[in-house]
Amino acid sequence: MSAAAPRSVWSSRWAFILVTVGSAVGLGNIWRFPYMTGTHGGSAFVLVYLLCVALVGLPLLMAEILIGRRGRGNPVSAMLKVAEENGASPWWGVLGWVGVLGALLILSYYSVVAGWVIDYMRQIVSGVKTVTPEAAAQGFGDLLADPLRLILWHTMFLALTVGVVARGVLSGIERASLLLMPALFAILLFLVLWGGMVGNMRAAWHFMFDFKPELLTGQVVLSAMGHAFFSLSLGMGAVMAYGSYLDKQSSIAHNSFWIALADTLVGLLAGLAIFSLTFAHGLEAASGPGLVFQTLPLVFAHMPGGQAVGTFFFLLVLFAAWTSAISLVEPFVAWMTERLGVRRAIAAWGTGFAVWLLGAAVCLSLNDWSGWKLFGLNLFDQLDYLTSRILMPLSGLAVALFVGWIMSRENVRDEIPLPAAHFQIWRWVLRYVTILAIVLVFVYRLTNPDS
Ligand code: PFF
Repeated sequence: MSAAAPRSVWSSRWAFILVTVGSAVGLGNIWRFPYMTGTHGGSAFVLVYLLCVALVGLPLLMAEILIGRRGRGNPVSAMLKVAEENGASPWWGVLGWVGVLGALLILSYYSVVAGWVIDYMRQIVSGVKTVTPEAAAQGFGDLLADPLRLILWHTMFLALTVGVVARGVLSGIERASLLLMPALFAILLFLVLWGGMVGNMRAAWHFMFDFKPELLTGQVVLSAMGHAFFSLSLGMGAVMAYGSYLDKQSSIAHNSFWIALADTLVGLLAGLAIFSLTFAHGLEAASGPGLVFQTLPLVFAHMPGGQAVGTFFFLLVLFAAWTSAISLVEPFVAWMTERLGVRRAIAAWGTGFAVWLLGAAVCLSLNDWSGWKLFGLNLFDQLDYLTSRILMPLSGLAVALFVGWIMSRENVRDEIPLPAAHFQIWRWVLRYVTILAIVLVFVYRLTNPDS
């Protein structure tokens, strides 16, 4: 996929689904979903999240792929091209910019968390056994307190990511995903079964699915919507960039459906596995970003063959994070190569360096700089808040307005040749329900800041 070559398309329909699932499935499902569910009251969060996936996420996933394919370029150029085709203002190009730059902000802290995964993998490989909850909490605390260790793993993960983007070897990723994504799914299923055997699956199920309306607050709703965006890689140009390589015959609707389903299932499986084991070990569900890292090492320490299973598990999570991270850099690098004619390698490593600097600051915000706060949040939390709860939903809103109201119906129809009734439903949901949902959540939060 170099700048000079004619724009290629994926080798098959499955390739597109695989790399897009690769982008969607990542730390969001395995690390972020369980801990957000834990800190936001369990089922209230899960149910709003599921609603958001159906009514906001899926319609927008289709809309973003549509823009990418129609515009056949990086998110900025694609937006400009489709806007021009529909007689709309070139200001819509700003939407592409919000996406590509927002993606780099996400990557700066995403890479730090992926670094935690590397550290845990290293510990388990070298035979470290965490047998008590106190030791698990201590281990996580020690990691966060050590800036050099954090920066080392962050650097390594980012180099791995940028290395792939620099060479433009997405096809290698495509092949690896074919094997590793199903493996991740299988190991999660195994952990759910294990949770059913030795954990407290009943408590996990009640925690995740018993609807308790009293737990529903403005904060929970905004966080759940933000997580639907995060988990499906929406609003950041990632899906648009991948959609730009999709051939005209592939069905955007069917592909999107499978992508959203796979992504949601992985999150739910991870949640069930982790909560059943969290409750069985008497750990705190609301412990925050450390949840997965404090629960699983304990589980592996007590499981026969736990060292091998644990190593394999963290390796697969690392791979899932890697494929997501690649989709966070690719849009900006594609813009630099296509628009500025910069060599891919230079564009990738230059971008990587900028992200690395911000990520290093994120590492320090967890220890030496933890006193530096804005709105009561350290840099790590600020970046997460800004991207998932503000930038992603706002940019999703703009995509819905653009495809729902600005693009001509004929152009949209041309890309989504579903049976008429299905097309109508999707377009109606996008034009009204998706837009209204995002606007309402924002208005509610702004008018009830303490809810
Ligand atoms: N969806 C990814 C995850 O769940 O880990 C994170 C992500 C990737 C967010 C790409 C946004 C994005 F553009």
